Amino acid sequence: MAPLRCSPLALLAVAASAAGAAADGTFNVVSFNVAGLPEILQNNGESGDKTTNTALIGQKFAEQGFDLIHVQEDFNYHATLYEYDNHAYRTATSGGAAIGSGLNSLSNYDWRDFTRIKWDTCSDASGSDCLTPKGFTYMRWRLAEGVYVDAYNLHADAGTEDDDESARNANLAQVSAYIESTSPDAAVLVFGDTNCRYTRTADNIDIFSNANNLTDVWMHLKLNDVRPTVEDVCANPAQSETCEVVDKIFYRPSPLLSLTPTNFSYIGKLFLSDPTNSSSTLSDHNPLYADFAWAASSTLRSSDFLGGPHGTAFSDVGALANLSSSPSPAGATLSFSGAERLDAVGIALADGTTSFSHGGSGGTAVSLVMGSGEYVNNVTLCQDKYNDHTRIFYLEATTNGGNSASTGTIGSDCLVSVAPEGWGLVGFWGRDGDEVDMLAAIWAPAS
Ligand SMILES: *[C@@H]1O[C@H](CO)[C@@H](O)[C@H](O)[C@H]1NC(C)=O
Ligand SMILES: *[C@@H]1O[C@H](CO)[C@@H](O)[C@H](O)[C@H]1NC(C)=O
Ligand SMILES: *[C@@H]1O[C@H](CO)[C@@H](O)[C@H](O)[C@H]1NC(C)=O
Ligand SMILES: *[C@@H]1O[C@H](CO)[C@@H](O)[C@H](O)[C@H]1NC(C)=O
Ligand SMILES: *[C@@H]1O[C@H](CO)[C@@H](O)[C@H](O)[C@H]1NC(C)=O
Repeated sequence: MAPLRCSPLALLAVAASAAGAAADGTFNVVSFNVAGLPEILQNNGESGDKTTNTALIGQKFAEQGFDLIHVQEDFNYHATLYEYDNHAYRTATSGGAAIGSGLNSLSNYDWRDFTRIKWDTCSDASGSDCLTPKGFTYMRWRLAEGVYVDAYNLHADAGTEDDDESARNANLAQVSAYIESTSPDAAVLVFGDTNCRYTRTADNIDIFSNANNLTDVWMHLKLNDVRPTVEDVCANPAQSETCEVVDKIFYRPSPLLSLTPTNFSYIGKLFLSDPTNSSSTLSDHNPLYADFAWAASSTLRSSDFLGGPHGTAFSDVGALANLSSSPSPAGATLSFSGAERLDAVGIALADGTTSFSHGGSGGTAVSLVMGSGEYVNNVTLCQDKYNDHTRIFYLEATTNGGNSASTGTIGSDCLVSVAPEGWGLVGFWGRDGDEVDMLAAIWAPAS
């Protein structure tokens, strides 16, 4: 379902309905280091010239129609990759070797908040990791209305000298900390070239499971969750599904969204210049493939987000999911403050103990006290720019009883979110500071 974005004049004409939004589905992901350093710097030991190989990779991406592809080392043959690929949503390149990170994403679904983050640490102990500004990328990938997965691509420091190990360890710690601060309560995918092996403990690849509760899809599906203690390095193409590569796919579900990996596969055999000749690989890395099934929760769901990636991330989802009984939206009290923009939002549930508030202390307070059986099932948000940063400028909440309250200034870039039938507002997630930077509603069933 397309996001409902419209000008206020058109609001009345839009029959917004989250009730019609998809509640489950499947998707697949691919991680592939496409070996796109200039041939003169690094021939990657492959046969065939890199332009031809990259064209074949792009053709295969288009033919297979993978839902989300993360590429690494997409440097000097990037234009060729995109010429032969046809995905609807693709990141703009950050440049060739020495300028860009080589990280790009190709997708069948749109996203928001795409960000490139450079490593704080790199090492030239072996290889030339500091030659180009490597790092990781973040995006909030949108599968359906209110259904988001925070997707991270990365290319960690290479090599096995002590300095490489400590750089790589720092790289993973940087991603891990970013996930903690940016994706609280969000479903997460991390996939890319980690340059890690489980047998190299100094890499500390375990940080993703220990600190972020992420699961390695390969280890889960192919090794029955048993962490490898002996190095079984894959050939290219991989000779088995239990051998290990340095490229990895991690995932975690959230209280809003279940994620179940249903298939993992090395798909190097798809990427040969001569399908009958296993020596004719197009890159020196095996591409990885995974299938996932997703389902929106039957007790907590999100609306779409509006606003900008500023301030600090907050989420009521974890606290709502932890309640001993499913939170009810009926009889809640909504309180918000605003003037020119939205300063703060808050909600107190009828259980008498659960309440949340976000934003700052400015603005004029407005409240909406609901009767028994009454709940907010329709939220309108508008965004605009303040000091070049997108913030929430307007909030209007309407109940199933037809009561409403609003604050801020209505603009021309607005989003109407309607709860699934019989569901209502119980909380929020987004980003805030002294005002509200980004916001989405959290809905729960009324009974
Ligand atoms: C939701 O609220 C907006 C703004 O008040 C209104 O225009 C729209 O008709 C409402 N939609 C539904 C389905 O109630
Ligand atoms: C960690 O993930 C597992 C499996 O996905 C889940 O059952 C568990 O509740 C999660 N723990 C936390 C603290 O989020
Ligand atoms: C897993 O994915 C691979 C690659 O697409 C495919 O060849 C294979 O049939 C799939 N296996 C299952 C059990 O779906
Ligand atoms: C297979 O491909 C490799 C690399 O291009 C090439 O050297 C070899 O001659 C090919 N073998 C056959 C039988 O075509
Ligand atoms: C929810 O419960 C888990 C497990 O007890 C805890 O780790 C987490 O901090 C709680 N989250 C919130 C927001 O209360």
